Amino acid sequence: MTSHTFAPSGPLSGTIRVPGDKSISHRALMFAGLAVGRSHITGLLEGEDVLATAAAMRAFGAQVARGADGIWTVDGAGVGSLLEPRQALDMGNSGTSTRLLMGLVASHAITATFTGDASLSGRPMKRVIDPLAMMGASFEASAGGTLPLMLRGASPAVPITYRLPVASAQVKSAVLLAGLNTPGITRVIEPVPTRDHTERMLTGFGAKLEVGEENGETVIAIHGEADLRPMDVVVPGDPSSAAFFMVAASIVPGSDLTILNVGLNPTRAGLLAVLRQMGADIEEVNPREVGGEPVADLRVRYAALTGIDVDPAIAPAMIDEFPVLFVAAALAKGTTRTTGLEELRVKESDRLAAMAAALQMAGARVEEHEDGLTIHGTGGEPLRGTPASAHVATRLDHRIAMSMAVAGLVSGGGVSVDDTTPINTSFPTFMGLLQEAAA
Ligand code: S3P
Repeated sequence: MTSHTFAPSGPLSGTIRVPGDKSISHRALMFAGLAVGRSHITGLLEGEDVLATAAAMRAFGAQVARGADGIWTVDGAGVGSLLEPRQALDMGNSGTSTRLLMGLVASHAITATFTGDASLSGRPMKRVIDPLAMMGASFEASAGGTLPLMLRGASPAVPITYRLPVASAQVKSAVLLAGLNTPGITRVIEPVPTRDHTERMLTGFGAKLEVGEENGETVIAIHGEADLRPMDVVVPGDPSSAAFFMVAASIVPGSDLTILNVGLNPTRAGLLAVLRQMGADIEEVNPREVGGEPVADLRVRYAALTGIDVDPAIAPAMIDEFPVLFVAAALAKGTTRTTGLEELRVKESDRLAAMAAALQMAGARVEEHEDGLTIHGTGGEPLRGTPASAHVATRLDHRIAMSMAVAGLVSGGGVSVDDTTPINTSFPTFMGLLQEAAA
């Protein structure tokens, strides 16, 4: 554990570049590892979560290496040819690695054991076990359907049509990845759209995948058994990492910060819309396409924010950004209400409970409900809470640590976080960029 106090800051300014998108980085390694031949990945996020995926793909027989120029090279093992890992796969803190790789194993004639840290070992896996068991895989999970978990894949697996009971790109992707090595057509019905990086990138790697609509719901069909061809992937900057700086520059008076190369896939860009609705001044500069994803530079200038009722329908498009949105709300004028956020209780931590406790400690007025938070903002006044000697509990959750770092910038006396090491799971350059922007 490394504690750190985030002190009040002057304006954020200059130009920064956030690291590659975590969701896209995981998928690039997985799909390249399934292709036959050599792929290159530029801009890969080199955070602990993604490195766990790289290690797992090596254990499945892919060759994965980082070049001196920072470009990663992957020689794939081929769909249907994954090797059985000789040891348990340590997924660390990474739910995305775990759930997507479970999908891969489910339709291969191999057995794999998944382990993780205390946070990951408490998270629900039944949501992927259920559909993958329908496809023929068998499981020995810990009590409550959690890690450590052993998965025996089925060969051949059975194609299914699965309607997602929770809005989860991880569950959707797990089923689609299992479908890659399943003869026939595997379908996922998605009542509420979630991030579509799997669909976009699998198509690029040559999978036969169709996206349609039935009764207002999205239907994704994947044809197995697939042959993937190698591809060169360029990973855009992570909007979920940019989020901390979008909020920081919006609430620290005098700020004018440009964040380069931010991915703005519509299934990820919810925070931008919500901040603008609150009055934020964020300009999209030089919109373009990078690696099949929409991207722009964001110029963020300080603006007085106003509290709003956040439409729960936008939640999937900003599901990881709520912790830092709560910080923005704590500084806004008036009340912000959020609802429909029960999924936040099963992320790296219970993010509703963790942020309610952390913001209260920092001096914000927050009410916690079953499915959201109500936050009465200061109207721009600094947060004045318990002295910085009282630590905010990070709970092994990178986004709690970074959100409360942002809260520290707008506090009267600083905010102390008990552990900053989880930040390395998704954003290893965060502390340096924060210093740079605030210098
Ligand atoms: C992710 C999907 C989201 C998100 C997570 C990454 C992905 O989880 O919270 O950080 O890469 O597919 P759910 O799909 O479970 O909501």
